[in-house]
Amino acid sequence: MNGRRIATVVLVAAALVGLGFLAARSLDLMPEQASTRAVLVDQLFRWLLGVATVIFLIVQGGLLYAVIRFRRRPGDESDGPPIHGNARLEIVWTLIPAVIVALIAFYSFRVLAASEEPEDSPLVVEVSARQFTWQFHYPEAGITSAELHLPVGRQVRFEITSDDVIHSFWIPEFRVKRDATPGQVAELLVTPSQIGRFAIRCAELCGPGHATMTSEVVVDSPADFAAWLAGQRAPAASGDPAQAARASFDRYGCYGCHTLADAQASGSVGPVLDGIGQTAATRVEGLQAQEYLRQSILEPGAFVVPGYADGLMPSNLGERMTPEEIDTLVAYLLSQ
Ligand code: CUA
Repeated sequence: MNGRRIATVVLVAAALVGLGFLAARSLDLMPEQASTRAVLVDQLFRWLLGVATVIFLIVQGGLLYAVIRFRRRPGDESDGPPIHGNARLEIVWTLIPAVIVALIAFYSFRVLAASEEPEDSPLVVEVSARQFTWQFHYPEAGITSAELHLPVGRQVRFEITSDDVIHSFWIPEFRVKRDATPGQVAELLVTPSQIGRFAIRCAELCGPGHATMTSEVVVDSPADFAAWLAGQRAPAASGDPAQAARASFDRYGCYGCHTLADAQASGSVGPVLDGIGQTAATRVEGLQAQEYLRQSILEPGAFVVPGYADGLMPSNLGERMTPEEIDTLVAYLLSQ
């Protein structure tokens, strides 16, 4: 290679490197950053994307150059020159990727360590996944909720588990995702940095209702969070049975699978409950509406409405709900 060609190659390579970094910097592929961890994760992601873009452009550029420069010319029927190889070149192209991989490992480890740094007195929230709802328990306050509320700026320690199959607890705006595995408790530390509402998703195929297994995290100011906690602590027995029944409908995750306009539920995995008060008596011959509903809650497999799958509804509601809660819920459903 003469001097001019070397200069050209160096120039083109430098242009590709610059383009790669520009592309990686200007691309905005990630959702809003709503936790302190999100900032670190996005920096790492951008850096990786930049490195990968540069490698891609250099490798593809070299390939394109070789294809054009050393193509077979018309009339050239000769073999290529017999070359054994080039030990120095092979050492170089082994060392460079090894150094890059070591840098990536080092940087990733630092991001992981920084984002999992425990702080004093985090807020503990126990997350239970089940087909197809999320439930959040605040052990300090003794509250269970279907909606996740968090105060901004305070570290949260999620203790994540599952009641049935493997799910995955995912809050894209927080850049956190952790499997919910039956029989195990997975810990996850994160500090919300942004007031607002953000989506919670299930990121592990867990059955027919997987796509609808969503919820929301509401990040409040500390004062709003305290007010919400106080509101949750007020007894559900406010004297209004419909209100209490709607609370049960939320607490036990019924809304995840059933549609019921009055409870603002639109699940599609289980039978629609609008109008159930009229149809319950006709479902099973010789069984009164009230008994039909009670048995369907306690023993979901006893009568499965045609067109719906057996084995999806939790069969332990009889142990989890109090007899009063069941009575109230049955009476409420009869009125729908
Ligand atoms: Cu739970 Cu997918």
